[in-house]
Amino acid sequence: MNYADVLKHLAEQNLYRRLTNVRIIDSSRAIVDGREVILLCSNDYLGLSSDKEVIDYATSELSNISQCSSRLVAGNDPILVELEQRLAEHKAMERALVYPTGYMASLAIAALADEHSIIYSDELNHSSIIDACRLSRASINVFKHNDVAMLEELLASSTSSTATATATVATSTHHSRRIVVTEGVFSMDGDMARLDEIGRLCREYNAMLIVDDAHGDFIYGSNYRGTTEYMNAEDYVDVIISSMSKALGCFGGYIAGSEEVVEYLINRSRTFIYTSSLPALFARAALKALEIIKDGKIAYDGDKNKKILHPQDRLITNAKMLREALAREGFNLKGSTHIIPVLIGDEKVALEFADMLLKHGIFAQAIRYPTVARGSARIRVSVTALHDEDTLKYVADVFSMVGKDLNLI
Ligand SMILES: Cc1ncc(COP(=O)(O)O)c(C=O)c1O
Repeated sequence: MNYADVLKHLAEQNLYRRLTNVRIIDSSRAIVDGREVILLCSNDYLGLSSDKEVIDYATSELSNISQCSSRLVAGNDPILVELEQRLAEHKAMERALVYPTGYMASLAIAALADEHSIIYSDELNHSSIIDACRLSRASINVFKHNDVAMLEELLASSTSSTATATATVATSTHHSRRIVVTEGVFSMDGDMARLDEIGRLCREYNAMLIVDDAHGDFIYGSNYRGTTEYMNAEDYVDVIISSMSKALGCFGGYIAGSEEVVEYLINRSRTFIYTSSLPALFARAALKALEIIKDGKIAYDGDKNKKILHPQDRLITNAKMLREALAREGFNLKGSTHIIPVLIGDEKVALEFADMLLKHGIFAQAIRYPTVARGSARIRVSVTALHDEDTLKYVADVFSMVGKDLNLI
């Protein structure tokens, strides 16, 4: 097939992707086609990306736009080292390592495995994890989404028990390293991994546990350490991957783990070694955003003097309010978190739904195959701490009207 044929085929199947010009005002508002609309697809869940303190701090000592070099050559700005210390403290892990993007941090999983390893991966894991699995050359076992029983079956079937003087130790029959990898909050289904149970299995079967918590980090848990803290699973987790371009409102990715894992990645992770470092500008922004999160205060842009306590609480309250309103209208919703997937099913109808929302001043994306399974297209609604009650009521009303027009409810 040539490129034109592929594009034609995609269009026929309602799977063609188009870029929309969007100028973000803050995480709740944007300019689309020259007019202000309600934004329902930002991952800036706490509204930090437009925070004035963050912007001022990021740009205050700006002497260059970028280090224009790999960390291992001339790119290791001390601000990155400081950020890594703060991120390691945030995660209560020995060390952290910053990557230029969350995608590149996820790809580092490839370095943690090799052709002698076996990786157990949740079927709904993000594409960056799928790509990392492929790059690693490890054997891959995909388990059904959050299916702990299936994961146990897979772990057990590749395990033999070896009696030692003190204990019975589970070891892999064929593989030198076993790795279980899952997201924390699933980006397209908005549910949480059963990390406590998965963690216990990893311990029992002597497998390493890697969690990509791009969407739960800085939100969940009493110290905002993410899904692992919220699920009481921190002791089971060996490596955490996260993004700074979601709730932290900045840019870049990072990995937290042991001293040994981080030193290993510095020496072996191709997406760390062979690319330019995260610009110091973003590292400064992330440091300030992290400080604000730890303080529990966020300044609202647009209402300069308004400070709110615990934006995470506000985010959860907003998500609950909108989830309940949409469920009352009869929509089929997935998950339980601040990511609210409104299931539509048919790809064409999902596109029509998004178009109709935009006509009513709401910008939300129709998510289709291959990001989600065929026939399970959805509108992925992400609420943020900056949406207010009236806006969310309006959103629920418009969803209801469009849902009725399209015979979905
Ligand atoms: C689970 C998960 N991991 C990694 C990434 C990539 O993060 P970034 O946007 O920082 O590259 C995403 C982005 O959506 C994601 O959802």
